[in-house]
Amino acid sequence: MRSRRWSVTAAGLGLVLVASACGDGGGDDGAGGQVEVFSWWTGGGEEAGLDALIERFEQENEGVEFVNAAVAGGSGTNAQAVLEGRLQSQDPPDSFQGHAGAELQDYIEAGYIQPLDDFFDEQGLHDAYPDQLVEQISYDGSVYSVPVNIHRSNVMWFNPALLEEAGVDGPPETLDEFVEALEAVEAETDAIPVAVGAQWTVDHLLESVLLGSLGADAYNALWEPGANWDTPEMAEALETFETIMAFTQEESAAEDWQEAARRVSDGEAAFNIMGDWAAGYFDELGALPGEDYDWAASPGTDGTYMWLSDSFTLPEGAPNEEQALSWLELVASQEGQDLFNPVKGSIPAREDADPAEYADSPYLESALAEWQAGPQLAGSFWHGVTVGNRWKNDIDTAVGLYLQNGDLDVLNEALHEAAQTE
Ligand code: GAL
Repeated sequence: MRSRRWSVTAAGLGLVLVASACGDGGGDDGAGGQVEVFSWWTGGGEEAGLDALIERFEQENEGVEFVNAAVAGGSGTNAQAVLEGRLQSQDPPDSFQGHAGAELQDYIEAGYIQPLDDFFDEQGLHDAYPDQLVEQISYDGSVYSVPVNIHRSNVMWFNPALLEEAGVDGPPETLDEFVEALEAVEAETDAIPVAVGAQWTVDHLLESVLLGSLGADAYNALWEPGANWDTPEMAEALETFETIMAFTQEESAAEDWQEAARRVSDGEAAFNIMGDWAAGYFDELGALPGEDYDWAASPGTDGTYMWLSDSFTLPEGAPNEEQALSWLELVASQEGQDLFNPVKGSIPAREDADPAEYADSPYLESALAEWQAGPQLAGSFWHGVTVGNRWKNDIDTAVGLYLQNGDLDVLNEALHEAAQTE
């Protein structure tokens, strides 16, 4: 078995890159003005989705300058820290990307964002979104953000040729089968059994292993404040996590999710557990579904959609509120969602999107069908659905320590502790 030498030297990737100029915060200057939109969509697969929206926004809002304030780093690892600093110092962008669910509640409780009830009424959005999603963006009876998509976190991407070379007959369905497959890849091929990237991709892997090992009901129950994580079931889940981590590659910490996913489509790695933004990236790379890569639900999670949703907000004190509302109008619209999501690798948050727009991608076609069939739902913790930033950061710190000291008991205790202090 491969020894675990995963280092955390590049936690957070170190680099904070601003994709383009930050807004001058100068407010609406009358002549069309500007709109500054903050996200972390700068990399492969992600930027293209944002660009599709920007292009349409510029066509529809002639004279309004679009200021793309995206900060690089998958899953917002760098962006969220930059954003927090700006919000605290009352220098908000005109709109920022945040996840529906507990993460959004943090912003609401801090008084950083405005309710959007009038906007929802004007745009007829209550009927456009599923009720459960509206609940996740509501607080005290008001709605606070505009979801643009639904992503799936629990996807296992794999390289079909490597599985065949290893003698693995089809994608593993359970965690036990997954470990057997990793052993076979290790024994029979030169490939990395399972690719990871920066530390957050390990947090991401952890949520899929917890879901696969505990099942959806027990996984969902973990996020009740005060939940008991100190159980034999959790110990077993974490042992499985440790076993899987032993099959990951070295020198991964400086890479983001794109590099880990690309290893699969390039035939360097057999598996990668990553959200379906990878589908957008594979498309951009020109990788062929069914040949260069294939997918299945992450082991033990078939039938459960571990979901998350990117949504855009209207900050308190947004310098260009009128233009921000035009941006939100595009993000909320069927047209905007059908432009963005097929490129981004996500399905629309609206219920009336056009399935034909997704039919070119075998992955998205199947994801949309599965979503519309009403699967069992679980919320992604890493991507803000089930926990706010404090709890999420505590888990990340515990995982970071574990990657350094390899002590599973300490990890379990820290995870339990993190659940007690909500
Ligand atoms: C998630 C986000 C996705 C995608 C991913 C990787 O948190 O919701 O849209 O950007 O991070 O960066």
